[in-house]
Amino acid sequence: MRLLIVEDEPEMLLFLKRFFQRKGYAVTAVTRGEDAWAAMTETEYDLVISDLVLEKMSGIELLKKIRAIDKDLPFIIITGAGTIESAVKAIKMGAFHYITKPFQRQELEITVQRAVEFGMMNRRLSKLNEETVTENNLFIIGKTPQMNRIIGIIEKIADSDTPVLIQGETGTGKTMFARHIHALSRRGEGPFVTIDCGAIMPSLLESELFGHIKGAFTGAIRAKRGLLEEACGGTVFLDEIGELPPQTQVKLLRTIQEKEIRPVGGNQVINIDVRFISATNRNLKEEVKVGRFREDLYYRLSLIPLCLPPLRERREDLLQFVAQFVREFNHRHNKQVTQLSPAVLQTIMNLPWKGNIRELKNVIERAVLLSEGSVIDSDCLGAGGMDPHIMTSGILEDSDTPAEPLLLKKSVEEAEKTAIRRALHLAEGNRSKAALFLGIGRRTLYDKLAFYQIESGRLD
Ligand SMILES: Nc1ncnc2c1ncn2[C@@H]1O[C@H](COP(=O)(O)OP(=O)(O)O)[C@@H](O)[C@H]1O
Ligand SMILES: [Mg+2]
Repeated sequence: MRLLIVEDEPEMLLFLKRFFQRKGYAVTAVTRGEDAWAAMTETEYDLVISDLVLEKMSGIELLKKIRAIDKDLPFIIITGAGTIESAVKAIKMGAFHYITKPFQRQELEITVQRAVEFGMMNRRLSKLNEETVTENNLFIIGKTPQMNRIIGIIEKIADSDTPVLIQGETGTGKTMFARHIHALSRRGEGPFVTIDCGAIMPSLLESELFGHIKGAFTGAIRAKRGLLEEACGGTVFLDEIGELPPQTQVKLLRTIQEKEIRPVGGNQVINIDVRFISATNRNLKEEVKVGRFREDLYYRLSLIPLCLPPLRERREDLLQFVAQFVREFNHRHNKQVTQLSPAVLQTIMNLPWKGNIRELKNVIERAVLLSEGSVIDSDCLGAGGMDPHIMTSGILEDSDTPAEPLLLKKSVEEAEKTAIRRALHLAEGNRSKAALFLGIGRRTLYDKLAFYQIESGRLD
């Protein structure tokens, strides 16, 4: 990360330079706006921090020049007290944030981190929106070392017939990875048959898997082929394998070992040529320990074990997911979102994402749908006093935990309250200024003050 710092007070400049160097940033430190501009043309920076009042070229002038060539480069203004008017002006011109002296180190660090993330995000969005969109491309996102390792393994083993066991919380991409392995394998043109072991009644599961002959049980008026037979030449995806009843576990084990099935009620043996991929959100090894899952079957299924990390453990990938989903839903819903407001970004970075990528995808879809124009703001996340029932229907039907939007709404409200209080404080109680800081209309601010019952201190 490259930072460009402009500050005319040498002591302050040195402090900032050392502070950020220690945090691992590559820092260019200059004392004059003109030098900053010259440096800009030499190097591509990720962030500019500039003092507002400089001798010749002011922070604002520098910002104006930069915005003419780069609309996404994050810009943080540092001001002394008493120059709030100009800070407002700077924000209007696209500065990310401003910090008033004296400031806390932590405040400075967090603001800078957020600004850098914000810049990366918007750059990525701009870039992605330029690319042509092809639907249904298997686009696997993930650049953490753990994800790289998983993708590496998949590429190596896709083409063999080795069983794969994918473990991970709901929404972490188990189904997607199973499909990906299938698509990469030489069976890619063959069928991909999913069996949700948790969703089929145990009494029907065996006939679903192995098929049955006519008259095998009451109601079996015709012979029926099993899903394992349907999948011949392709891949069988056993989803929620942890739910498989014990008696079916035995039969599945035999099937995998002998590559043949016997339809329920019959003696005939059918050879099957399938590859097994299974998935579970349980810890299957634990299930083995407590005796709910057969050990021999576990070892058969898990020759290649893959563990997909929860989203909260791969926050580095969050922005890329957001960018990808915004692009996808722009295309699907004919929208033109190119930016997320800093508050929204902050909320997204901080939420626990218990429903993982699926939940994030749902939230982004709703936000894109609700957006007006190019920016997703907090209202689009559902904070605008929206009926939670509306939020859980339709768009969110894919979600496993319908209570989540309420939680989300609450965290967004908390974030909003904090932002409003902070803006009021910075604006010394002047509500028009506070509204400007927040990037919302005065009317909206009044409504929100009433809604949250916040005292604004001073009337304007
Ligand atoms: N690495 C990834 N890149 C892009 N999209 C992903 C990725 N992982 C998951 N998704 C998307 O997230 C959603 C949930 O994934 P899914 O495979 O259904 O999760 P699981 O089967 O673990 O519950 C799907 O819409 C999927 O396309
Ligand atoms: Mg799934």
